[in-house]
Amino acid sequence: MNFTLQVWRQKNASAVGGFATYQANAIIPDMSFLEMLDVVNEGLIEEGEDPIAFDSDCREGICGMCSLVINGVPHGGRKGTATCQLHMRHFKDGDTITIEPWRARAFPVLKDLVVDRGALDRIIQAGGFVSVSTGGAPDGNAIPIPKERQERAMDAAACIGCGACVAACKNASAMLFVAAKVSHLGLLPQGAVEKERRVLDMVEAMDAAGFGACTVTGSCEAVCPKEISLSFISRMNRDYLLASFKRQ
Ligand code: SF4
Ligand code: FES
Repeated sequence: MNFTLQVWRQKNASAVGGFATYQANAIIPDMSFLEMLDVVNEGLIEEGEDPIAFDSDCREGICGMCSLVINGVPHGGRKGTATCQLHMRHFKDGDTITIEPWRARAFPVLKDLVVDRGALDRIIQAGGFVSVSTGGAPDGNAIPIPKERQERAMDAAACIGCGACVAACKNASAMLFVAAKVSHLGLLPQGAVEKERRVLDMVEAMDAAGFGACTVTGSCEAVCPKEISLSFISRMNRDYLLASFKRQ
């Protein structure tokens, strides 16, 4: 398969970026999107040019590092699919594909397609953990948890922290990410103890990082590679209101 790529190139955080055109030729349909970029980069390196910078790590949809806006949609718009699991067979031979970095004030571009997602880390540092005295691992079933609650917590825990929800949102809101993290811990007895402090601190860190407000457009849920439900945002809002009343 052959493609024409319009790729965002930007030397560094302060440089002015712009689109550059590249050809991706002889691409095997079963290659992932990132493997296709690897092929293009090998060609650029052979010609002595600067390869296109992009983020990736696990390439298995687990780590949340891959972060490309493909044809205007974070992760390319295939349901429940991260960029690293998007395959070239889903495009048409001869397509022109536009590739950009996440766009949000809280995610400054570092180089080409790489953005700084440290703002998400700062939100986690504010409360995305359980403060427990460490000791021996307890027996698996020592704390019974109803199945429905346990499954809901695991649904929230599926968030890989990629930031596509922010990139898709017209307000650059991180509510889906924060709601997933708050719910994952707050639904389980080990994390419920600190749920009020957690939701207040994480929302405060989210606001401080420059993310926008949620106006419930649902664009976050639509692009989320882990299909995190918008209902977690309502759940977090309830937690937040209750915690705010109690703090007063
Ligand atoms: S909620 Fe979905 S889109 Fe947002 S960071 Fe988590 S996995 Fe990525
Ligand atoms: S590279 Fe790890 S989720 Fe895509």
